[in-house]
Amino acid sequence: MTIILGLESSCDETAAALVTADGRILAHRLATQEEAHRPYGGVVPEIAARAHVEALAPLIEAALKDADLTLDDVDVIAATAGPGLIGGVMVGLVTGKALAHAANKPLVAVNHLEGHALSPRLADPTLQFPYLLLLVSGGHCQLLHVRGPGDYARLATTIDDASGEAFDKTAKLLGLGYPGGPAVEKAAAKGDPKAVPLPRPLVGTAEPHFSFAGLKSAVMRAAQSGRYSTQDIAASFQQAVIDCLIDRTERQLAGVQDITALVVAGGVAANQSIRAALEALAAKHDLPFVAPPLWLCTDNAAMIAWAGAERHAAGLIDDLTVPARPRWPL
Ligand code: KG4
Ligand code: ZN
Repeated sequence: MTIILGLESSCDETAAALVTADGRILAHRLATQEEAHRPYGGVVPEIAARAHVEALAPLIEAALKDADLTLDDVDVIAATAGPGLIGGVMVGLVTGKALAHAANKPLVAVNHLEGHALSPRLADPTLQFPYLLLLVSGGHCQLLHVRGPGDYARLATTIDDASGEAFDKTAKLLGLGYPGGPAVEKAAAKGDPKAVPLPRPLVGTAEPHFSFAGLKSAVMRAAQSGRYSTQDIAASFQQAVIDCLIDRTERQLAGVQDITALVVAGGVAANQSIRAALEALAAKHDLPFVAPPLWLCTDNAAMIAWAGAERHAAGLIDDLTVPARPRWPL
C-alpha cells in the first residue's frame, strides 16, 4: 500500500503525518506556535518561519517513529506549497523537495486549500464526488463544487474578511485573546444570541458571496456602547455568522443538482454551533452531512498527506522546480 508523508507549515502549525492511499492515518504529529504568537495577538510571520525551521525535522522523525517506518518505506512526499505565509511555506516545501530528492521519491506540491477540501474524504471514505463544500478558515470563506482532485468550481467567496478572520478580530475586540475562534465559541456558550442586534451582510441578496466586514464594525460599536456583556456580544456575533453561512449555503443548494453531500471543512468548521446549523440545513434538504473531526478541521499534515494521496493516484505529481506561492486560488 502506498504511504504518503505530508508536511504542513503555511501558518502557525508545524505538522508531519503519514497516511496510506486507502486512508489510514499511520501517524500525525503537530506543534502549535500559539504561545509564541500570543503576546502579539496574531501570527507574526518572521517568528512563524523560524519556529517551523526548528520544529519540522523532529516532527518528521517522530511521525516515522510512531508508525515504525523509515524514509525508505515512504512512497510519496506531499508538502504544502501555498497559499500562506511565504517564509513558513518555503520551510515545508524545501524540506519536502530535499527529502524527495535525497530518497528519490515523487513530490506532490499541495494547495493548502485542497488539503482542507479533500479532508472530509479522509474522515469519511464513503464520501463521493461531487459535493458542495463550505470551506471556512482563517484566510478563506468559500463555497466550492468539489468534483475531484484539482477539479473545483468556486461558487462564492468573501468580498472582504474571511470567516475565521471575523472570529479572530471579534476575539481581539472583546479582549478574548488569541486564537480567537475557540475563545469566541466558549464565551458565546454563556451568552444570549438574541441580545445584540447585529447585521447579516448580503443575506437574502441575489448575489452569491459572503461579507463580514460590516458585522465586525457593528461588533465594535456594540462593545464600545458598554450596554452588553462580552458573552452576549460573542453569542450574537456567532449567531450572525451562522445566519450568513446558512443563507449563502442554502442559496447554492437550490442551484446545484448533482451533489452527494453537504460538507464543511477548515478551522471554523471546528465550531460546534456552526456544525449543528449546517447539519440541520443538510437534513432539511435530504442530504448527508459530512464534517471532519475537530482536529482534522484545523491545520494539520494528515490532510496534506491525503491530498497528496489523491493527487498522486490521479497522476498529478510535481517536479522539484515547483514554487512556493503566498497566493494560490484553488
Ligand atoms: O484552517 P485553519 O486552522 O487555518 C487556516 O488555514 O486559516 O483555520 C484557522 C481559523 C482561525 O481563524 C480560527 O480562529 C478559526 O479557524 N477557528 C474557529 C474555531 N476553531 C478555529 N472559529 C470558530 N470556532 C472555533 N471553534
Ligand atoms: Zn488551514
